[in-house]
Amino acid sequence: MNDTPSPLRLDGDRLFILDQTLLPFAKQEVALETGAQAARAIATMQVRGAPLIGAIGAFGLALALREAADDAALERAVRALGATRPTAVNLAWALHRVGTHVRPLPPAARAAAAWREALAICDEDRAANRRIGELTLQLMQAITPRSDRMNLMTHCNAGWLATTGWGTALAGIYLAHAAGIDLHVWVSETRPRNQGLLTAWELAGAGVPHTVIADNAAGQLMREGEVDAVIIGADRVAANGDVANKVGSYLKALAARDSGLPFWVAAPWSTVDEGCAGGASIPIEARDGEELRLVRGAAGRVRQLGRDSPVANPAFDITPAHLVTALITERGIVDPAQGMPEGVHFANTSERNDPQNLK
Ligand code: MRU
Repeated sequence: MNDTPSPLRLDGDRLFILDQTLLPFAKQEVALETGAQAARAIATMQVRGAPLIGAIGAFGLALALREAADDAALERAVRALGATRPTAVNLAWALHRVGTHVRPLPPAARAAAAWREALAICDEDRAANRRIGELTLQLMQAITPRSDRMNLMTHCNAGWLATTGWGTALAGIYLAHAAGIDLHVWVSETRPRNQGLLTAWELAGAGVPHTVIADNAAGQLMREGEVDAVIIGADRVAANGDVANKVGSYLKALAARDSGLPFWVAAPWSTVDEGCAGGASIPIEARDGEELRLVRGAAGRVRQLGRDSPVANPAFDITPAHLVTALITERGIVDPAQGMPEGVHFANTSERNDPQNLK
């Protein structure tokens, strides 16, 4: 599946990542050679995005097992990697999957088996995202744009950079663009880490028309009829359909509902946490206040607030299921308002996504 760019590259048994802390200003690969380096890459957001940190967690475990593979070392590595970022369930999911796969094996066989499992996770992720893209395209084709071109809005970065390929929210946009659909994407900046700039960089690379907006401009654009649908990714979807995603997603969902717009969430099934009852049980990562006190740009980092200025930096928020029009997974399109995942309900998408039917 080489028809999508990817933020990771394998050369034999070596792993290289694109350092996302330098993008969009510089494109630089970094080699990850130890479990500790993989954990650091996840914690510092050199790699980010739920499916990607799951994949790097899996490779990180394989790298750690190359150093030491006895039972105690295995559990230590799982704990260290799992502690890096708490909200995206894909990390815990991938570590659980690889750990369960290698635990019964003799220590000498564990590292290679973990590496193979990590490769399988990547292959499955790209296939899932491609399918999500196809289903998203169907949703797009079922709505009537307000103007000659379809205007979509997205938040954060849920493109190929955030996955092992294709992206989740952006997969359908790439397929629609390739199919000749005239579309334009509003890209919200996504303070404080500015993942919207990564989205703009991706879209520019693919030739998809787009405009970056300040996060606070989103509601007004929706009110003015400049948006036909909002699509985001997810870091964890609870069993009741509540969605954790990058902070600011909830406000967009509220504004979309008030403007009668579809609000779509695109995520692979590895992001669905069937053991989590609802959004209130999802841990919200509180990141370092320096992310707010310093602004990153092409010239480096500039201080806008003193070290002692009190700040709060929750990295994610919860969008309740009733604000989500459709959850697009590789298994199909789920209507979270109907409850999930038990007895997964496949929405009548053309009806649900007609803005007339939302209020
Ligand atoms: O803090 P980040 O950049 O890792 O957060 C990423 C997001 O919130 C994405 O929207 C989400 O992981 C979906 S990525 C396909």
